[in-house]
Amino acid sequence: MAETERRFVDWVGKIKFGIPFIDKQHLELCDLCEELYQGIAQQRSYASSQGWQSSLSDEMRKLFESLRNHFATEEKLLATVGYEHLAEHKQSHRHCLTQIADLLKDFDKSGMQTVLDFVKFFNNWLYQHITFEDRMYVKTVLEYMHRQTQGE
Ligand SMILES: [Fe+2]
Ligand SMILES: [Fe+2]
Repeated sequence: MAETERRFVDWVGKIKFGIPFIDKQHLELCDLCEELYQGIAQQRSYASSQGWQSSLSDEMRKLFESLRNHFATEEKLLATVGYEHLAEHKQSHRHCLTQIADLLKDFDKSGMQTVLDFVKFFNNWLYQHITFEDRMYVKTVLEYMHRQTQGE
């Protein structure tokens, strides 16, 4: 997605760790969040449309799967480099997945406002998590990667 197309998740271009596969996954998550937001905005313009949930539930599930996949990648990486705050970090991931799983449980009966509130929450969660919690592991990971390339 081009930088100018992200109108809701407008912070992502500012955050890069220099860990290519992690940066790529973060960007993908931001794109999914943006798509979800745009999807809701579109549905809102047909205020009375029936079954709008079904057109968004696929995107919600896609977001959930991508997030689960990213968390698994990140946790594996952090275990490999021996990151000291891995347990807390995992807990933060679990907490986010639980929130989405709860929303997905009764998604067909969800109100538009609930879904909109969720996207706002998720955008904010992702921003806070990447900016503060993920950023904390960057030094450890980069040092590890550096040692690997030095053949130590
Ligand atoms: Fe994380
Ligand atoms: Fe992350």
